[in-house]
Amino acid sequence: MRFDYFAPCTLGLEEALVTELNQLGAGAVEARRGGAAFKGDRAMGYRANMWLRTAIRVQRFIKRGPASSPEALYDLVSTINWRQMIHVDQTFAIDPSVRDSTITHSQYAAQKTKDAIVDMFRKFGPRRPSVDKRDPDIPIKLVIQRNEASLYLNLSGASLHKRGWRPVQVKSPLNEAIAAGLLILTEWDRRTPLCDPMCGSGTFLVEAAHMALDRAPGLNRKFAFERMRDFEADTWKAIRDEAEGRVKKSLSFPIMGADRHSGALKIAQDSVDNAGVSGVVDLICREVDHYRPPTKPGFVITNPPYGERLGEGEDLTESWVSLGKFLKQCSGATAWVLSGNKELPQKLFLKSSRRIPVHNGPLDCRLLRYDIH
Ligand SMILES: C[S@@+](CC[C@H](N)C(=O)[O-])C[C@H]1O[C@@H](n2cnc3c(N)ncnc32)[C@H](O)[C@@H]1O
Repeated sequence: MRFDYFAPCTLGLEEALVTELNQLGAGAVEARRGGAAFKGDRAMGYRANMWLRTAIRVQRFIKRGPASSPEALYDLVSTINWRQMIHVDQTFAIDPSVRDSTITHSQYAAQKTKDAIVDMFRKFGPRRPSVDKRDPDIPIKLVIQRNEASLYLNLSGASLHKRGWRPVQVKSPLNEAIAAGLLILTEWDRRTPLCDPMCGSGTFLVEAAHMALDRAPGLNRKFAFERMRDFEADTWKAIRDEAEGRVKKSLSFPIMGADRHSGALKIAQDSVDNAGVSGVVDLICREVDHYRPPTKPGFVITNPPYGERLGEGEDLTESWVSLGKFLKQCSGATAWVLSGNKELPQKLFLKSSRRIPVHNGPLDCRLLRYDIH
C-alpha cells in the first residue's frame, strides 16, 4: 500500500529535508514551503520517523476537501472511516492550523472535527474514544488553508526535534532539528574535524556526532505510530534493528567544542553523555580568544549570541570580535556562523562567501559562510 506523506520543517530547511528524503529512497519528493511531500509504503513512514533529522513531524495524509464553513468541515470529516483508525478505548487529539480561510479560529475548527469523529462512533454504540490533548494515542493534524482542509495522522507524536538526549529543556535558541538541518545545508562531509567554539548546550556537536556515527536520531524515542491500529511491529523491528546495526563505534577525527559559560558547558557535557557520544566529542570551558582546539579544525560551525535580550550590546560586540580572531587562526577551514543580526557579523572582520536565509523560531537569521585563508 502506498501513502502520501508530508513532513513539516523549519522555514529555510526544506532543501536539507529533501536531501534527507532522497537519501532515504522516498518517492515523489517535493519541497513545499515549510516542509516536503513524499510518497511511500508504511515502512517508509516508519523509516522517515527514525531517520529524518530535519523534520518536525511525519504526517500520513488522510483526506482533503472543501471547508469554507464549519458545516462543510464537519461533513468532510464525517466521510472518513475513523473507526478503522481509532479504537473506542483509545484517546485522540486534533492539532489545528488555520490560514487565509473563512474559519478563523483554529480551536473552533478542532472542536468541529472532534464532534464529527465522536458522532460517527455514537452512531454505532454508546462508547467513544476520548480526547487527551497531552499524550493522545492518535494525534491528528488538521490544516485549513484557503478554505480547504487537509487531515493527516501525525505518525511522530511529540516533535521529532525531541531526540531524548537533552538532559533539561535549556533556553537554547537552537533546537536539534535546526542544528541538524543547518549541518546538512553546509554539506559537511562527516569526516573533517569539526569545532563549535561557542557551543552552549552543545546542539551542533551532538547532532554532528550522530550524523558522523550514522546514528539515527529516532533510536532513543517512542513514536505515535507504535500505538496506531495498523502498527506493523515486525516492520518496525526490522527498521530499528537495521538502525542499531549501522551505528559506528568510533570516529577517526574529533568533534570539538568550547564555551566560556561553565553552566552551559555542564549541560553540553550531560547532553554528550546522554547521547552516547562522549568518546568522540571533546569539550572545554574557555573564552573563545583563549581556545586552542586539540586538533586543527577544518570545519567550524557556531551560533554566537546575537542579542535576543536587551542590554547585551557591548559584550556581544566583543564576543564577535573574539570569534573573528579565533576564526582567523583556523587557516584552511570552512566556517559557518548563524546570525540573527545584520550588524554583528561585520565585527568578525571577514568577508562571507555565502548566506543562507533560515528561520530560528521567530527570528529571521542567516547562516554565513567564511572561507578562512
Ligand atoms: C546562542 S548561544 C549558543 C547556543 C548553542 N548553539 C546551543 O546549542 O545551545 C551562544 C553561546 O556563546 C557563548 N559565548 C559568548 N561569548 C563567548 C566568548 N567570548 N567566548 C566563549 N563563549 C562565548 C555563550 O556562553 C553562549 O553559550
